[in-house]
Amino acid sequence: GRTVALVVAAGSGTRAGGDVPKQYVPIAGRPMLAHALAALEHPAIDAVHVVIAPGQEAQFAGISDIVPILGGDTRQQSVRNGLEHLAAESGIDRIFIHDAARPFLPPVVIDRLLAALESADGAVPVLPVVDTLANGGDALGDVADRSALVRVQTPQAFRFDAILAAHRAWDGAANATDDAQIARAAGIRVALVEGDAMLDKLTYAQDFARAEERLGARLV
Ligand code: CTP
Ligand code: MG
Repeated sequence: GRTVALVVAAGSGTRAGGDVPKQYVPIAGRPMLAHALAALEHPAIDAVHVVIAPGQEAQFAGISDIVPILGGDTRQQSVRNGLEHLAAESGIDRIFIHDAARPFLPPVVIDRLLAALESADGAVPVLPVVDTLANGGDALGDVADRSALVRVQTPQAFRFDAILAAHRAWDGAANATDDAQIARAAGIRVALVEGDAMLDKLTYAQDFARAEERLGARLV
């Protein structure tokens, strides 16, 4: 069967601010989304699909020839739109669901996820939590045991039929910030592989400057 990638890039980048939605903001002279698409060019990935926001077709056409799928109001809905579009194709065995906001994907992470998918229907890259996690509010609250927690990144890899069924079964009213929680809710075992700091999500404006520095350091 085929292995495809689905990049979600239909967000509005509210926390990053700025005039241009963050997926189109250049990093080292190239839009973030273009970096994300390039990183998915891997010998094991047969095709890359993209979900964009309605109205951003012209911006997207400036960076790729891929025919985009239109997203929804939430990340979850954008992924769902992508999955339903791909459901019309036959022969898709595995899917990598990835955030455009994580544009620097080391190929070794793709290799780890593919290896993990040999024995699980889902696999995600994770990193340890290094900060103290506590309840916030007016005053500091209880602290969580961080040694029991992980930070879950994307791409998240799944057997296509399994994640499609999980999305269809998910309660649309519940907000899911990633696909692994939707998979788990449907009883899919999700394996963990080692993530990578280069995959940290670009959320705030200052993350872009830091990403540019990291990228420069990696390229020299
Ligand atoms: N995303 C999407 N469709 C949405 C919302 C988010 O495809 N309706 C995508 C974003 O484009 C991003 C990924 O999901 O690649 C992770 O979301 P996030 O980092 O939260 O991006 P935004 O939603 O754009 O940012 P913000 O939450 O600050 O508005
Ligand atoms: Mg968001």
